[in-house]
Amino acid sequence: MKERLQELQEEAIQQIQGTQDLKELNDIRVSFLGKKGPITEVLKGMGKLPAEERPIIGEVANKVREAITNAIEKKLATLEQAEVEKKLASQKIDVTLPGRPVRKGNHHPLTAIVEEIEDLFIGMGYTIAEGPEVESDYYNFEALNLPKGHPARDMQDSFYISEETLLRTQTSPIQVRTLEMHEGKGPVRIICPGKVYRRDNDDATHSHQFTQIEGLVVDENIRMSDLKGTLTVFAQKMFGEDRKIRLRPSFFPFTEPSVEMDISCKICHGEGCNVCKGTGWIEILGAGMVHPNVLEMAGFDSKKYTGFAFGMGPERIAMLKYGIEDIRNFYINDRRFIDQFKRA
Ligand code: DAH
Repeated sequence: MKERLQELQEEAIQQIQGTQDLKELNDIRVSFLGKKGPITEVLKGMGKLPAEERPIIGEVANKVREAITNAIEKKLATLEQAEVEKKLASQKIDVTLPGRPVRKGNHHPLTAIVEEIEDLFIGMGYTIAEGPEVESDYYNFEALNLPKGHPARDMQDSFYISEETLLRTQTSPIQVRTLEMHEGKGPVRIICPGKVYRRDNDDATHSHQFTQIEGLVVDENIRMSDLKGTLTVFAQKMFGEDRKIRLRPSFFPFTEPSVEMDISCKICHGEGCNVCKGTGWIEILGAGMVHPNVLEMAGFDSKKYTGFAFGMGPERIAMLKYGIEDIRNFYINDRRFIDQFKRA
């Protein structure tokens, strides 16, 4: 019996040492030390032994069990260690590798232009005013001297939401909202940037959504010469001190008289080239003296107060300033386009 136990021990240890696999090691443990294993089997026969031999065999059996258990534990530790080392070797982290650079953003060229124009007018004492993009027919048209059915409404094809509500087609309604807030008292000196919407088919120079900047000054004794002086400063700061402006008669329902402002072409300086289509001048914005009807409807006394207003499209200004040929570049968010306008 003693020999049998010794044999089992040797056999077990041999198997334990021979394995490289955690699952197999567990199978070995079960097969030798389990309830149905050979050691238990041997011990079952102890009853047939003489009384004085039983403790001796019992002791041997315990030692064999202990030896096998120890061998398994030792092997287990080695195998586990090997497993960890294998993982470490295959999943190595190189802490000396350079990091991936974080791409820095920059202002969108349109934002940059709007801010530049805002700053210019803030420097002349203007404040910024804003209004809703979903606007009432009253503010977008009627209060701007464009009653229902007025033919000039057709100049701006609109997105109506209901009979009385639309996406604003211009930033001019902010003029009216601001005048109302001033309750008939000047001075008013505001610049209003914002998105506007028109039913246009998008192409290189048209977009159903674009940006406008509106200006409004209302006070006592505001004259056309104030408008001209302001626009001259604006044009020269924006496009260069050597630029000239000219005002051409035009029509807007909310101004009288109305003008369109051109700047002299920077390419040919008035000689005529393909940028200015041979005229020497480039159209920049619409402007005029605020129509008395607009002042009166908003609660201002048009005998006491006069004013001027202007409206421009920053996309167009950016296109002229930077030589951008397609307005859609502002909206498709191609970083190769946007990244060209990084500011210091
Ligand atoms: N709202 C006009 C437009 O969208 C632009 C404009 C022209 C605004 C003359 C003005 C102005 O304030 O005085 O076509």
